[in-house]
Amino acid sequence: MKDLSRKRILVTGGAGFLGSHLCDRLVAEKHDVLCIDNFYTGTKGNISHLLGNSHFEFMRHDITFPLYVEVDEIYNLACPASPIHYQFDPVQTTKTSVHGSINVLGLAKRVKAKVFQASTSEVYGDPDIHPQSESYWGRVNPVGLRACYDEGKRCAETLFFDYRRQHGVNIKVARIFNTYGPRMHPNDGRVVSNFIVQALTDQPITIYGDGTQTRSFCYVDDLIEAFLRLMDTPDSVTGPMNIGNPTEFTIQQLAELIITMTKSSSRIDYKPLPSDDPTQRQPDIAYAREALDWEPSVVLEEGLEKTIAHFSDLLKKKAAQESSLAHSGG
Ligand SMILES: NC(=O)c1ccc[n+]([C@@H]2O[C@H](COP(=O)([O-])OP(=O)(O)OC[C@H]3O[C@@H](n4cnc5c(N)ncnc54)[C@H](O)[C@@H]3O)[C@@H](O)[C@H]2O)c1
Repeated sequence: MKDLSRKRILVTGGAGFLGSHLCDRLVAEKHDVLCIDNFYTGTKGNISHLLGNSHFEFMRHDITFPLYVEVDEIYNLACPASPIHYQFDPVQTTKTSVHGSINVLGLAKRVKAKVFQASTSEVYGDPDIHPQSESYWGRVNPVGLRACYDEGKRCAETLFFDYRRQHGVNIKVARIFNTYGPRMHPNDGRVVSNFIVQALTDQPITIYGDGTQTRSFCYVDDLIEAFLRLMDTPDSVTGPMNIGNPTEFTIQQLAELIITMTKSSSRIDYKPLPSDDPTQRQPDIAYAREALDWEPSVVLEEGLEKTIAHFSDLLKKKAAQESSLAHSGG
């Protein structure tokens, strides 16, 4: 007999940082997961441990092209998330958000699947209210270097809500704030991974600006828990819903904490702030608290410990590879 609690779930961008953790969780919950990714920023290494599992399937596919599969739920995560990556090919970034959303929404409409969108706090731009709640419409520069990402994600939200109004598609839109954890890219310029790698290698820690700009950091496990809870809400709950950790830290505090935890001898280097970089970003998560009965439970030190362990392991493996290459004369 068919197990009705087992769903067929598509995860786009499933080989990325968040996507691979989401696939882990969904497979652990005994669902059948179809992960698609074009490996633009994701890696085979992020999902290699899942490949032998009969409830996990991988397909190399670019979400800017339509996809025809039978699924019950879709999590749309495909999109490079760090400025270095999304600014490398900005036209492709916008296409991924916009064409990608059209493709997953078209699929959801055809197969009557529920569809989740990984939106972002970047839709608020450089906000002039603090903290940001979902009712705030944002302050985004439409022609700046970040616009390919910010406006792409804003347009994706528009598409999600129009598919709901026009075609009755069951949507869930999460606005994700800064998240960190194992499997972040080591060199993508995101602040937590950057600082950890610099600290572990005793290089100077780069702070853009004077370090007083604040960020809130959510540990990946807390975020994934909220994704699943949002997907499980009644049809009337669509979002957009802020998901993140509201505890604020200055960039300076983060750098100092990482230096202490890694026992690093790194010093701090200050560089000019890039254009359009928001000075303050903090989620108001009242809506998520109420609708999902959720709030983050992993404190920064605990999450950093796991993330530092991951990067330390990664750097050791890299060093071992380099030394074996040097010894083999390669
Ligand atoms: N990590 C965060 O703090 C954060 C914050 C806000 C929003 N988000 C959103 O969450 C999602 C996942 O972010 P992440 O941090 O895991 O980033 P990531 O770069 O690690 O993952 C994105 C994945 O999407 C894949 N991808 C990119 N373009 C694609 C395409 N055209 N077709 C198929 N696959 C494609 C990449 O190869 C990668 O595996 C993104 O949509 C991002 O905008 C993340």
